[in-house]
Amino acid sequence: MKKLVKNNVYWVGKTDWELKKFHGDEYSTHHGSSYNSYLILEEKTVLIDTVWAPFDNEFVENLEKEVDLAKIDFIVSNHGEVDHSGALNKLMEKIPNTPIYCSANAVKSLKGQYFKNWDLRILKTGDTLDIGNGKQLVFVEMRMLHWPDSMAAYLTKDNILFSNDAFGQHYASDHLFNDLVDQCTLYAEAEKYYANILTPFSAVLKKKLEEIHSMNLDIDIIAPSHGIIWRDNPLQIVDKYISWCDDYKENLITIIYDTMWNGTKTLAEKIAQGIREKDADVQIKIFNLPKSDMNDIATQIFKSKMVLLGSPTINNCALHSLAALTHYMKGLKFKNKKAAAFGCYGWSGESVRILNEMLNDAGFDVVNDGLKCLWNPDSEVLEKAFDFGKDIA
Ligand code: FEO
Repeated sequence: MKKLVKNNVYWVGKTDWELKKFHGDEYSTHHGSSYNSYLILEEKTVLIDTVWAPFDNEFVENLEKEVDLAKIDFIVSNHGEVDHSGALNKLMEKIPNTPIYCSANAVKSLKGQYFKNWDLRILKTGDTLDIGNGKQLVFVEMRMLHWPDSMAAYLTKDNILFSNDAFGQHYASDHLFNDLVDQCTLYAEAEKYYANILTPFSAVLKKKLEEIHSMNLDIDIIAPSHGIIWRDNPLQIVDKYISWCDDYKENLITIIYDTMWNGTKTLAEKIAQGIREKDADVQIKIFNLPKSDMNDIATQIFKSKMVLLGSPTINNCALHSLAALTHYMKGLKFKNKKAAAFGCYGWSGESVRILNEMLNDAGFDVVNDGLKCLWNPDSEVLEKAFDFGKDIA
């Protein structure tokens, strides 16, 4: 059933309450998600984006109940990723000649995924389409936010920005709008979304926010393609993005370790005590990596000014969970964050050096050689770990 967004604009998407993993298994979605599709019923009938492929039949059946599909004048595909374009196949079987407006790069992504000869029409930044009643859709390419094909559409007079992935959250809710949902969950999911999806593109985003600002658009509603729609002070999330895209950090040190027989865990806790001894204000968070969610840890790294990684040595290496995490961190391209390593060993003791190399490779500023402990930490080593924490602080 369609839900009213504003005037003649309706939400016709899919709320996915059960989703626990997104992008394959790469992103945890503790609160589900939604795929937001929008129907505009002005003199022209316009559909903006669709939903993920598993819901294609349901989407088309529901849409048919709301509008005669043959009356859809055109579709806007703001982004070719399958969570938004996945129902196009089913829809276009019914209305094969309907034009699809998209960016030049979306022609490549749509053709590359669906192999169809749809009537794809290219838009670039500043292009407009009249939809009647004096209203226009104005388009802004959002290249690399987060795909080359990404685009946003702005509806004049109603002042709605259809921002696609930007400003979204993986948050399933029966309520559409930001003033109706739990604010802590909303912001936690918006921040996690930024940290895990948009961090690599922060520099691009910074320029794009300036460009959109210079267009002097009145924005009453920001309608992203996932999660909650921002209608109550919608620029609050833009302000957040402005701070998040500028090498964001809080007064937070995150300690992440894996451990075999708890020696490295003991070091982690003693280092934390040393930090606290020196600095009463800094926030310290400690994670046992294999017992934690990697995307939630990445969100904490995003917020941290410094990250400490710990692993014992095994087979001349660090434990493999640290390799997966540092590989993921490298992809997120964090900037201006400090780091250090620690770990126990029994004979060869390579893990701290390897952690340092992985942290360097991931773009972190490694501040010292790290802390190594032969066998279990005794009182002397515990004192060293405490002092290591004080030095870190
Ligand atoms: Fe929500 Fe990039 O797709």
